Amino acid sequence: MKTGLETLILPAGEAAAEAAARTLAAGGLVAFPTETVYGLGADAANATAIAHLYAAKGRPAFNPLIAHVADLAAARRIGRFDARALRLAEAFWPGPLTLVVPKTEGCPVADLATAGLDTVAIRIPDHPVAEAILRAFGGAVVAPSANISGHVSPTLAAHVASDLTGRIDLIVDGGPVAVGVESTIVGCFEAPMLLRPGGLSRERIEAVLGSPLARPPVEAGSDDSQPLAPGMLASHYAPRAQVRLDARDIAPGEALLAFGPARLPGLDAASAVMNLSPAADLDEAAANLFGHLRSLDAKGARTIAVMTIPGEGLGEAINDRLRRAAVAR
Ligand code: TXA
Ligand code: MG
Repeated sequence: MKTGLETLILPAGEAAAEAAARTLAAGGLVAFPTETVYGLGADAANATAIAHLYAAKGRPAFNPLIAHVADLAAARRIGRFDARALRLAEAFWPGPLTLVVPKTEGCPVADLATAGLDTVAIRIPDHPVAEAILRAFGGAVVAPSANISGHVSPTLAAHVASDLTGRIDLIVDGGPVAVGVESTIVGCFEAPMLLRPGGLSRERIEAVLGSPLARPPVEAGSDDSQPLAPGMLASHYAPRAQVRLDARDIAPGEALLAFGPARLPGLDAASAVMNLSPAADLDEAAANLFGHLRSLDAKGARTIAVMTIPGEGLGEAINDRLRRAAVAR
């Protein structure tokens, strides 16, 4: 474990982008905002830097990383895109979509970052700060969410600092993120497969493909031994508090995570109440999800009762993260 590092926090801007690029080139670890969540970046070609990254997060090394690039030309140096993968890239990049494609011959991404797979996960983030850093650095940057492994993903620089201060070199503060849940991951296999629901809805992807996305043979996350998107461990995205789903009432002392109008029996005895979206807007709820879980933790909630959230649009990703947060640990 690389601890005791001096973690610098810089406001986003030209100087921060240059400092980030220098730090990455020197093998350091840099947290930066993307439109989904804050990522913790390392030079994708530098195995030592990637080993430090796994250690800083406490992440199992069999769990591969997403390579972030600034444009499609850079993506195609790393991965092989067939017609369908190209159609998705052109429709949704830059944006909250990660494509898993076969590696190119001479793919510069270190084997440690792909966990020895012959495929690589790639995305072009839709965020000016991420883009500035990627362009200043020039190469691919692998970046998992910038949190301790298994913990709630960070949507603010302050979340990154609270998890990773002393373990990483630099945090670039670009304010709150817009989407709030991680990218949707599609495996560009024989049949394109939804490996992780995320910030781009299934409906929008299927509209471009003209066909439904395949489901993983084993529901991702139900079996920790052979996960298809290997990061989809059953217990993940977890606050410290217990999480109780589909709450129709509130037990004395429970905290409430509401969605839409909150009129549940027991509300008066709730220890805290936060609403993902009083107007029942799923995009707003996604943006608030991880921050609200962190806030309820900070208020000392023992159990968080969560109201039912519809499954369409970004509701699929929200429910996926909440189910993982609710897995008994
Ligand atoms: O929005 C996001 O995707 C954020 C931001 C920072 O870009 N990143 C992120 O990375 O969520 P991470 O490391 O938390 O999740 C990466 C996921 C894991 O579930 C991992 O197993 C999967 O991508 N993955 C990576 N490479 C893969 C591959 N070759 N095949 C299948 N799954 C892969
Ligand atoms: Mg993560």
